[in-house]
Amino acid sequence: MSIISIAIQKGGSGKTTTAINLPAALQQMGHSVLLVDLDPQANLTQALGILEEPDRSIYDVFREIAAGKQSDLSSLIEVRSGLPLIPASLELAGAEIELVSIYGREQIMTRMLKPLRDKYDFIFIDCPPAISMLTVNALVASDYVLMPLQAEFLPLKGVKSFMRHFENIKRDLNPDLQILGFVLTKYDRRKTMNRNVLDTLMETYGDKVFNTRVRTNISLAQAQEQGVDVYNYDRSCNGALDYLELAREFLKRI
Ligand SMILES: Nc1ncnc2c1ncn2[C@@H]1O[C@H](COP(=O)(O)OP(=O)(O)OP(=O)(O)O)[C@@H](O)[C@H]1O
Ligand SMILES: [Mg+2]
Repeated sequence: MSIISIAIQKGGSGKTTTAINLPAALQQMGHSVLLVDLDPQANLTQALGILEEPDRSIYDVFREIAAGKQSDLSSLIEVRSGLPLIPASLELAGAEIELVSIYGREQIMTRMLKPLRDKYDFIFIDCPPAISMLTVNALVASDYVLMPLQAEFLPLKGVKSFMRHFENIKRDLNPDLQILGFVLTKYDRRKTMNRNVLDTLMETYGDKVFNTRVRTNISLAQAQEQGVDVYNYDRSCNGALDYLELAREFLKRI
């Protein structure tokens, strides 16, 4: 089994869309998956149909573990859309601040996920668009990091700075962490800009760039509005096909 963080500090790059539909594609192929929403914006949670704030949330588990108590995430799993999910809560933003002075604060997520590790083939963590304490926790708990990038505009500086953080985390906190790769999203090969972005990324990171590109497809956004993954919305749209292709390549790379 593997834990995969979906992370990059750039906003709107397709992290949450990938965190829904890559696991959904793997589920279609017969693999067991679990999603964790670690972004206080709770986009993933809402996109899978959970709109209310839970009584008890991942934030409470953060606090319990930080206080040295035994706690884990199993009781928080929701399966409303058919994809097992640990929802986020707005309160998670507070965890950032509270964690600052806690000993072992980078390992809380690792401890939370430990009892769940062997129950799923793949656990995916959707990270906020920042290198925050939450993202560091996710990366420390993970075997791999997957980085979606919008093909419209390549923030190469941002990618380089993210890679420096990755190297630091690997060196100091999680030597087993590996790069699974970059995935271009909202891709349109007719656009020169999109092809230029791909070329630049390939020159710098070569085989770390997935061959599969996720094309721009409105159904991906519409499915999120309906609270379901793309396979429960329109299984033959380009978005559904691209994420299945991505899942196949994902399995080859992992
Ligand atoms: N391939 C695509 N085609 C069309 N729209 C897309 C595609 N991928 C993502 N979107 C849309 O783009 C917007 C941003 O995507 P998403 O929420 O996945 O990015 P994000 O990286 O998670 O953003 P944030 O950094 O704010 O968490 C969303 O409205 C989403 O529906
Ligand atoms: Mg997101």
